[in-house]
Amino acid sequence: MNALARPMEAPSGTVALVFTDIQGSTLLWERCSAGMRAALDIHDRILRALLMSTSGYEVKTQGDSFMVAFPAVADAVRWCLDVQEVLLDAPWPQELLDCPEAAEERGPRGLLYRGLRVRMGVHVGEPERRMDARTGQIDYVGRMVNVAARVADAGHGGQVLLSGAAWAQVAGMLERLGRPSVRVLGNFRLKGISEPIPLLELLPLSLADRHFESLRVREERRGNLPEEPGDIIGREEELETLRLWLSEGARLITIMGPGGMGKTRLVTHFGSLELATRAWEGGVWWCDLTEATTLEDICHVVGQALGVHLNSGAGEELVGQLGRALSGRGNALVILDNLEHLLQHVPATLRRWLVLAPQASFLVTSQESLRLAGERILDLAPLGLPHEEAHSLEAISRAEAVRLFVRRAREARGSFELTEAEAPLVADIVRRLDGIALAIELAAARTSLLGVRQIRDRLSKRFELLRSGQRDAVARQATLRGAIDWSWNLLDITEQTVLAQCSVFRGGFTLEAAEAVLSPESGELDVLGIVQALRSKSLLRAGASEGMPGELRLGMYESIREYASARLAETGDSQALIGRHAEHYLAMARELRGPARGGGVEALRRLMLERENLLAVCDHALASWPPTQESVKRALEALVALEPDIASRGPVGITLPRLDRALEQAGTLSADSLLLAEALAVRGRAYLETGQLAVARRDLERARASLLALGEAVREKRILVDLSIVARHEGNVEASWRFIQEACGLPSGKDRWLDAYTVGNLGITEQVRSGAGAAIPHLHEALALFRAVGDLTFEVLFLNNLALAIGEAGRTAEAVGFLEEALAKALGAGSRSGQAFARLNLGCCLLDVDRPAEACEHLEAVVELARQLGMRIVEGCARGELGRAFLVSGALEVAESHLMSATSILAQVSRWHALRFALHLAAVQASRGEVPEARRGFSALSRAPEIKNDPVLRELAVLLYATVDLIEARAAAPGSAEAERSRGEVRQRLERARNVPLEGASSDLRGWLRLLEPELRTLE
Ligand SMILES: Nc1ncnc2c1ncn2[C@@H]1O[C@H](COP(=O)(O)OP(=O)(O)OP(=O)(O)O)[C@@H](O)[C@H]1O
Ligand SMILES: [Mg+2]
Repeated sequence: MNALARPMEAPSGTVALVFTDIQGSTLLWERCSAGMRAALDIHDRILRALLMSTSGYEVKTQGDSFMVAFPAVADAVRWCLDVQEVLLDAPWPQELLDCPEAAEERGPRGLLYRGLRVRMGVHVGEPERRMDARTGQIDYVGRMVNVAARVADAGHGGQVLLSGAAWAQVAGMLERLGRPSVRVLGNFRLKGISEPIPLLELLPLSLADRHFESLRVREERRGNLPEEPGDIIGREEELETLRLWLSEGARLITIMGPGGMGKTRLVTHFGSLELATRAWEGGVWWCDLTEATTLEDICHVVGQALGVHLNSGAGEELVGQLGRALSGRGNALVILDNLEHLLQHVPATLRRWLVLAPQASFLVTSQESLRLAGERILDLAPLGLPHEEAHSLEAISRAEAVRLFVRRAREARGSFELTEAEAPLVADIVRRLDGIALAIELAAARTSLLGVRQIRDRLSKRFELLRSGQRDAVARQATLRGAIDWSWNLLDITEQTVLAQCSVFRGGFTLEAAEAVLSPESGELDVLGIVQALRSKSLLRAGASEGMPGELRLGMYESIREYASARLAETGDSQALIGRHAEHYLAMARELRGPARGGGVEALRRLMLERENLLAVCDHALASWPPTQESVKRALEALVALEPDIASRGPVGITLPRLDRALEQAGTLSADSLLLAEALAVRGRAYLETGQLAVARRDLERARASLLALGEAVREKRILVDLSIVARHEGNVEASWRFIQEACGLPSGKDRWLDAYTVGNLGITEQVRSGAGAAIPHLHEALALFRAVGDLTFEVLFLNNLALAIGEAGRTAEAVGFLEEALAKALGAGSRSGQAFARLNLGCCLLDVDRPAEACEHLEAVVELARQLGMRIVEGCARGELGRAFLVSGALEVAESHLMSATSILAQVSRWHALRFALHLAAVQASRGEVPEARRGFSALSRAPEIKNDPVLRELAVLLYATVDLIEARAAAPGSAEAERSRGEVRQRLERARNVPLEGASSDLRGWLRLLEPELRTLE
């Protein structure tokens, strides 16, 4: 080769190397050797001429390729771009231009190719310099040189490739380089080079329309995640949100959530999906930082994941290297997983990377947010839990948390199948684990040894139960305790103290409560600040208070609460804390007592929100041993305070055992007698609700006696009304009447609610005693009063009672209107008991207007609701009404079975209703041809004094016996005296029912008349 055009100084240190090569030169020599010789001269001249104006040093040529060294990458790139442009206009011999390999090609904006096509590659590094002993020329050797040669080799004629490292040095100088077009091509495996090299294509703007086939080397996968994502349950919405945010240009997203919530599972799944879309030219890179502790660790983990070769250096230096390497990747998605323990390093690091690599986006998982500008936070919620009302296998198995349990249980025990019987247990397990994926997996793993029920029962010792047998689990996630330990250890000592103390709350708490109850050791600390810190570390949850606009409510996942509670117990001194908690909530309850008894919507909501805290006050008090006057007082006060909430939302059973314990303890101490009487009354009413009439009466009578002795006439008045209700349910209408009369005689002390309660119950008793007509005015008055005091629960109740009376009086359509209002109000106020009543009565009325299908829908819902709420009377009545509904639709067998269960439930809780449905039962049995059973039934019933003395039941009994007469008329020989007699009986009974006096009228009677009249016609 010729001597060098210009003996430049060979650069040292960091050097940019360019290799060039003519595409298809072997073929061109074959086809037009003469033209080729001239062409080669032109080529060499141009390359060297352009080199003259740069600092480039021609190292050597080999065949037709050049190796040139530049002290600066920008010069190297400028030279390459110039060469590409100048070659186009060179005086190529026509012979050459006639060969397809060197022919002229045009694009939309002019010439694209003409003459020899030269591939060029640029790389930068620190090669070793060496003197060639023969020529005295400086040469370069080392890994970097090999990479540079391979970079050039990877391209096509007319293409200029830059390694990621070279790009990192010119990325900021595009303006100076004449704004060339840049394309990120990806990461490639170059022959003999261990790690993948990112490559970019640069072209002069004028040649931007050149398009090349894929590079002549294998592309490295654009990510380190499997393209087939692993299994994931649910999370559709979160995946969608991530996609949306990135498409909106978000560059930093933090997925936040406590340990084991499923952050890693979500991001790795998302990463795989994104990888598969091929939208990230720079790839999708998952970096697991669990084990990293220093800045250097972080860089090495990320470097390894991205396949970036890091030179040695301190943390800051490595951060820079990685940032530049990332910028060479173009738009890359970097997932930094599990970094809550690295928060002293990560924010600053990310800030630099965001600047250095402007096309990269970062997806981060952490229990704590990074607090960086532009950060978007996705607060990961637990997996979906089964709806509270879901009881069937089908409904339960739909919930995400249950699906995870079942899937993992199957992995533990191949034969695992969720059954109808076990589904509610699994629902309970996942609820108690708050839908936290890790906890559910650990519980499900236990199915290899334990049954579902055993797992449920052992959850109270969750930390012992929930450890994994899996060897591959990350140590931190091998046990539930381990997962929480991890977060605990990242807290400072005051945060630990406050978190432990937060376990005193149940069912959430307000900031105000936190301030009143929590006290960090050093006293002076800012509780709110610490609570806020705990919140940002995912250890406390925060949300809007239900029904309290603008109020923030804090809470804890149950597993964290139990953990914190164990930590609190270790400190051994929680008495003062428990005392502050009790004081705070009892003070609140005292304030609410008036308005909540009056059913004020606000007050009821507050009680509803704080139910768990009041129960906790009670439980803490009951647990103190030996009981003291103070502890018993707390327990009783809490229970009395809770009454309106329990009455509205149930279940009644929740306070009964506690009332028993508290009253028993009170018996051994001289407790405040007014409070005691109130608690007895509360328990009496609770028993009444569950249908245990005898004990209800006993408690109410005792309460009354105390109040009498205390001269508390107003309070006594209420108890008298309660006693009248008990007597009414016992079927003792006279006693009920006496009590209510007595109540009417006592003062209300301006308590309008009490007036409403009294007159309302006067109405109901009147209805039983003398029929709907007498009742309706009282019921109207009660309704108006309850509306005036704003007691929604009772307003709903008395809308029901009024509707019932109006319905009895035969104005069914009007009644349906009231009931629909009642149901809407109950639903709006979240009152489940109100809903049950409204639906029950709607069911009855709809039956009356011949809409049995709709009636059934309501009634079936009532059975379910009443069962959940422990309302036996309502459940029994709903069953009975269902019996009536099926009777109308002709399904006698089903009707019989409903009526049977109705009578057996009601026999213990409401004699009147039990008798009513027993009459129906006998009639259905007769209609089904079970004459002996029916006869036995009727004759037993006819002896019951309650039937003889109750006009409604009496008339019903008379009419229903017609079902037996009917059968007999049909069985007798046609035209016989027997047949005539029986038919006459039927006729008479129907006639009497048609003309029944008002107090004996009922929808039952009308319903049966409608059924029996056509039967009579078939006989005549
Ligand atoms: N949606 C899901 N579907 C299936 N499995 C899940 C799901 N979410 C979480 N898991 C499983 O639950 C366990 C805990 O989840 P993961 O490790 O993602 O939680 P994490 O929030 O990253 O926890 P940590 O804070 O401890 O890192 C893992 O075994 C994971 O596979
Ligand atoms: Mg994780």
